[in-house]
Amino acid sequence: MQTIRVKTTSAKYDVVTGSGLIGSLARRIERVQGRLPRRVFVVTSAPIWGLWGHCMQQSFSEPPIVMFLPPGEEHKTMKSVEGLLREMAQAGGDRGSLLIAFGGGIVGDVGGFVASIFMRGIPYIQVPTTLLAQVDSSVGGKTGVNLPEGKNLVGAFHQPLAVFADIGVLETLPERELRAGLMESVKAGIIRDRALVRYMEEHADDVLGRDPKSLEKVIAASIRMKADVVSRDERESGLRMILNFGHTVGHALEKATGYKTLLHGEAVGWGMVAALHLARERGTISRAQFERLERLIYLYGLLPMLKVRVPKVVGATEGDKKNVGGVTRFVLPLGIGDAGVVEDVTPAELEAAVGYMLARSTARR
Ligand SMILES: NC(=O)c1ccc[n+]([C@@H]2O[C@H](COP(=O)([O-])OP(=O)(O)OC[C@H]3O[C@@H](n4cnc5c(N)ncnc54)[C@H](O)[C@@H]3O)[C@@H](O)[C@H]2O)c1
Ligand SMILES: [Zn+2]
Repeated sequence: MQTIRVKTTSAKYDVVTGSGLIGSLARRIERVQGRLPRRVFVVTSAPIWGLWGHCMQQSFSEPPIVMFLPPGEEHKTMKSVEGLLREMAQAGGDRGSLLIAFGGGIVGDVGGFVASIFMRGIPYIQVPTTLLAQVDSSVGGKTGVNLPEGKNLVGAFHQPLAVFADIGVLETLPERELRAGLMESVKAGIIRDRALVRYMEEHADDVLGRDPKSLEKVIAASIRMKADVVSRDERESGLRMILNFGHTVGHALEKATGYKTLLHGEAVGWGMVAALHLARERGTISRAQFERLERLIYLYGLLPMLKVRVPKVVGATEGDKKNVGGVTRFVLPLGIGDAGVVEDVTPAELEAAVGYMLARSTARR
């Protein structure tokens, strides 16, 4: 078990990772909060609750009030938020209530957002059940939902009271989801943790075979990286931007393919390939480093073939929410384990990087 501290200007909390955490969740929350509040709400989705609900619930002497969000990005909406808020109001929720978000990134984002606005904000606990949610979305306090106009356009910064990332629940996670989530760990290594890059290179069989010790090592290192970055820059005014490595083109790919064919991590995997190409062309990484990092991405990511054309992807980068004032920001690795943000990427460079990525996606079949 490992405990990692997040210290932002608005909150300080622990992220705990290890095995057997959900079976002792109530006791762990009591340790953080002093005592359990009268009303504890759990936001989850039916498949997750079916697999792991019993294990979590038996740790509570008073059963929590369980609320369900149907799985799928299409339910990450204001309508779902209103439904959950009303359920809480009807069940007598008050400012002293606690919410537990028990699921993947979607449950975490929606549950966290509900907690940020119910009665102007109540405390909440993240219990992430996908690899992506454990290493990325549950840490850092970004919560929110989508609008028909775009992804994650509504939300709030609301830091959790604690995060419990139980490695045991990953046992039932589909292989494709596991590998997609690991793309965020590869990202963590490339931008800020050389040792993690090396560990992932040397232990791919153990990690992909879900050996608990190896998974814990990768998950804890990824969380440590994110915790450190958000502790220094909670609101993404500077350093936190490096977490978007692979995401400028990744988001564009998700958009250009209608959010249907690619998992987020898979889009980020391809986006990192494009960003690495740009970095190699600019010389912020060497040819050997480029080859090493590209190999690492393919080692973990079963990246699907991309059936989309260069102009569509390039066009989709322009609407990126992270762009301010029409400037396309790009995160480029500086060697291995460091990264910086550039704002002067030319259309020709972007086209070349996207062209390379699309060519790789067909060449690898
Ligand atoms: N807030 C942030 O900082 C942040 C960062 C990255 C991503 N996100 C958001 O996270 C979301 C994606 O999260 P995700 O990748 O976890 O997807 P997800 O929440 O859709 O979960 C993926 C699938 O796995 C299932 N599942 C979850 N845990 C399981 C388990 N233990 N065993 C078996 N099945 C399980 C879910 O029911 C779902 O079908 C996106 O909406 C994205 O915008 C947020
Ligand atoms: Zn991401």
